[in-house]
Amino acid sequence: MRDKHTLRAHREGFLGRAIYKLSEINNKHNIIKKGDKVLDLGCYPGSWVQYLLTIKCNVYGIDVKDVKGLNFKFIKKDVYDDSIFDDLDNNFDAVVSDLAPNTTGIRDLDQERSLDLCYRALEIAKKVLKPKGSFLVKIFDNSRLNEYINEVKKNFSYVKIFKPRVSKKRSKEIYIICKSKHNL
Ligand SMILES: C[S@@+](CC[C@H](N)C(=O)[O-])C[C@H]1O[C@@H](n2cnc3c(N)ncnc32)[C@H](O)[C@@H]1O
Repeated sequence: MRDKHTLRAHREGFLGRAIYKLSEINNKHNIIKKGDKVLDLGCYPGSWVQYLLTIKCNVYGIDVKDVKGLNFKFIKKDVYDDSIFDDLDNNFDAVVSDLAPNTTGIRDLDQERSLDLCYRALEIAKKVLKPKGSFLVKIFDNSRLNEYINEVKKNFSYVKIFKPRVSKKRSKEIYIICKSKHNL
């Protein structure tokens, strides 16, 4: 059964309920400003792109799945493919990642793949963000969360954990909000 946020997204013409997570995070934490150049990792079906376009951002997005009908720079590639850097420069204001692996149902394997995507997102953010840039990443709460947070703290001055109201209560997903990338 489709939940109320999915129905609301459908009614309001958005491509997914995830839009309400990004809008809530940004309204509270102000990581993306009007006109920013933003890279969206795992951008299909495109609801975060829709949000970023409404606040007039210059949007780049990467996904293995096709995103159609939106006016942004879409790169259809696997984030692990190093050729993504041929399509990106190093002056992004923000990198946002909602990357999620296809789940197998094997909990340890799914968690491992998800965490690996978070490390890859951090690696990409480190390469393409301007000094003082922002990074937002979805992660699943698990025993290695602190290890990841410690890694993130080496690169950003401000790091906070946030669970949007729209996230399903039983879901272990949380978002890590990082601001002010160090100029290493
Ligand atoms: C939860 S969805 C993102 C939803 C999106 N934020 C929105 O608002 O429409 C996660 C996406 O991550 C993508 N993804 C997972 N692994 C990937 C990889 N290795 N390279 C590129 N995209 C990947 C999936 O294809 C999927 O579309």
